[in-house]
Amino acid sequence: MNILLTGINSFIGCNLGRYLADCGHNVYGTVRNLTKVPSQAKWLKKNFIYELGGPPETFMFNDIDVVVHLIHDFRSGKMNVNIQGTQALYHTAKNIGVQYQIFISSYSAQKEAISEYGKTKYALELFFRKEQGIIIRPGLVLGNGGLFRRMVKLVQNFPVLPIPDGGKGRVPIIDIHTLCKSIVMIIASKLHENKEFNLFHNELISLKYLLQQIRHITKRKMIFINLPSGLLLLPLVFFKKIGIKLPISSDNLKGYIVNKDGGCFSNLKEVFCDVPSLNYMIQTAISDITGTTKNKDSDYFYLPPLF
Ligand SMILES: NC(=O)c1ccc[n+]([C@@H]2O[C@H](COP(=O)([O-])OP(=O)(O)OC[C@H]3O[C@@H](n4cnc5c(N)ncnc54)[C@H](OP(=O)(O)O)[C@@H]3O)[C@@H](O)[C@H]2O)c1
Repeated sequence: MNILLTGINSFIGCNLGRYLADCGHNVYGTVRNLTKVPSQAKWLKKNFIYELGGPPETFMFNDIDVVVHLIHDFRSGKMNVNIQGTQALYHTAKNIGVQYQIFISSYSAQKEAISEYGKTKYALELFFRKEQGIIIRPGLVLGNGGLFRRMVKLVQNFPVLPIPDGGKGRVPIIDIHTLCKSIVMIIASKLHENKEFNLFHNELISLKYLLQQIRHITKRKMIFINLPSGLLLLPLVFFKKIGIKLPISSDNLKGYIVNKDGGCFSNLKEVFCDVPSLNYMIQTAISDITGTTKNKDSDYFYLPPLF
């Protein structure tokens, strides 16, 4: 198949592109800036320049069978740009005859969302549902990129870290390799069903457990202090207002606050039968970040239950 990934340079985009190419698909991508494309991306057939807000060129979609929408502008105040830009891409692709379009949403996409991110993803889900597109909601994606990488770097670099409300809230997780393999499966076999997929491990772990495991694996001796989420939110909102970008944003915290009861279910096992254990997911992702190679299952050690 000919598959176009918008935002090919993203953490998920470049991993997914490589997996799709390994499975024999022709992979195309969009980038904002050609200089950002990694030179080793031999698997990429062609790149097109596209920035949200501009009119999408129809030639990007010539002979494309599937579009995977990955672009998200995380900057504050970009809700309309994200919604209108993604819708414009969708319509242009549809008008030129692209058969399948997949929207990479998030488990933060909820009617009750209080973060700009969650509200944007929810609005786009409504749009894709109406258009009978395919919606994929990954959990927090573990690997060498995105929010998880920033969390690992915080644990590695700070002696003390605050955790909101004791870190009791549940976090759905999936490692990047399982996510990519699952999306490849969806593209290969399930597209005709017009379904929505929640892709994360069916056991939800607490934020505290995840952070403690990161500390354990990276052999750090730092401490976590409990703070009420409301108290933590104030400085994060302030820094966002004055344009200072922190590793954890007020939107990340708002998403955690709304999702902390973990009421969502996973369909990962319907898509991919060989789901690794939680510990395997966490340890593989940290190995990807720290560059330590692990070759066999036996290289992954038992992590004590910490909840
Ligand atoms: N990572 C996770 O844990 C996670 C979990 C659930 C869902 N998702 C979703 O999966 C998708 C990819 O996430 P990620 O973590 O891989 O993101 P990422 O690494 O931060 O990449 C974001 C992508 O969006 C592109 N982009 C941003 N603003 C743009 C604009 N104005 N015009 C055109 N392109 C723009 C970026 O292009 P440049 O490379 O040019 O900057 C980049 O390719 C997002 O939709 C995200 O919401 C991620």
